[in-house]
Amino acid sequence: FSEFLTDTFHRQHDYLRISVTEKCNLRCLYCMPEEGVPLSPPAHLLTTPEIVYLSSLFVSQGVTKIRLTGGEPTVRKDIVPMMQSIGDLRKDGLRELCLTTNGISLHRKLDAMTEAGLTGVNLSLDTLDPFKYQIMTRRNGFEAVMKSINRIEEMNCSFNAGIKLKINCVVMRGLNEHEIVPFVEMGREKDIEVRFIEYMPFDGNKWSAKKMVPYQEMLDIIRKSYPSLEKVADHKNDTSKTYRVPGFQGKVGFITSMTHNFCGTCNRLRITSDGNLKVCLHGNAEVSLRDLIREKNNGLPINDDTMEALDLLESGRLTARIQAEKNLSDRERRLLDVIGMA
Ligand code: GTP
Ligand code: 5AD
Ligand code: SF4
Repeated sequence: FSEFLTDTFHRQHDYLRISVTEKCNLRCLYCMPEEGVPLSPPAHLLTTPEIVYLSSLFVSQGVTKIRLTGGEPTVRKDIVPMMQSIGDLRKDGLRELCLTTNGISLHRKLDAMTEAGLTGVNLSLDTLDPFKYQIMTRRNGFEAVMKSINRIEEMNCSFNAGIKLKINCVVMRGLNEHEIVPFVEMGREKDIEVRFIEYMPFDGNKWSAKKMVPYQEMLDIIRKSYPSLEKVADHKNDTSKTYRVPGFQGKVGFITSMTHNFCGTCNRLRITSDGNLKVCLHGNAEVSLRDLIREKNNGLPINDDTMEALDLLESGRLTARIQAEKNLSDRERRLLDVIGMA
């Protein structure tokens, strides 16, 4: 593995992020316009068996952490069965299965996801004020998000679930920078890492330098209320810089994409929802894994039946019998029909 997923900068890529949908049920000001983002034709998107298949390939090559992202991953109807299948890869070396979510519908799915092997949740929350929430996300849902946060804590306490919770808070000048201190305060009693993210420019998000609150300024704001704030050692591949207030359960982090680049230690591989492999968030070089895996299915999406049929074919178990056209069960005939081989 160290050969296979090590790049020319000697970075070992053992962390895979998979975007499972472009859709989202919120419209955060810094991320999407009111009308949403243009969606790809459904046939261009990876099917669940394709996502699971790709996950298994990467785990077999040494990936130990998979994060599902979006859009909003929970809007995908089959997110729970997908996580169950990916969670099964723990037997092959997967150690962490994480989700980046806005938390709106998480509380309803959390129990099943935890059972599937969920180990970490990065939850987007930019304000602790329900009214401001509506402004920043252009939707309702504050109470639902708080319910998800509470459910995670309850599960961690009552059932020792061990779900690592991080809160992602994008700071926008004039909107929520005065909430930095209340967010830090959340960590007094709760084992949560609150990460403040510098507002980044995306296509059409009306970014301006004036609205971005830089890392140093956020630190200064926090130090006014918590002079004892201290740096803690970052993990090798963390994209965030971590601090703690002595005596607090939680931690404070900063994602400083705009003022300090962390590319040198980045170990992330990314698969977009239409199946492109991206090695860097900033780079355009992409290769279509979707097209590669669909090659054996005449370019068509691979669903459960085609996956099973292709597995049967690849295993070689059927070849002789197909050639002899005998002893095929109805199920096998149907599967072969699916891939045009009957
Ligand atoms: P963990 O380290 O596993 O907690 O995940 P993460 O922080 O990489 O994931 P998350 O989905 O929570 O993303 C948080 C923020 O980091 C978002 O604003 C992302 O856009 C940003 N981000 C994630 N990976 C990269 C990266 O490689 N480069 C840059 N510039 N930003 C990144
Ligand atoms: N700048 C910074 N962070 C952003 N996110 C989305 N858009 C932006 C942006 N323009 C964050 C969300 C989410 C994470 C995956 O990315 O808050 O938590
Ligand atoms: Fe974008 Fe996430 Fe907000 Fe959805 S919840 S609009 S994906 S930042």
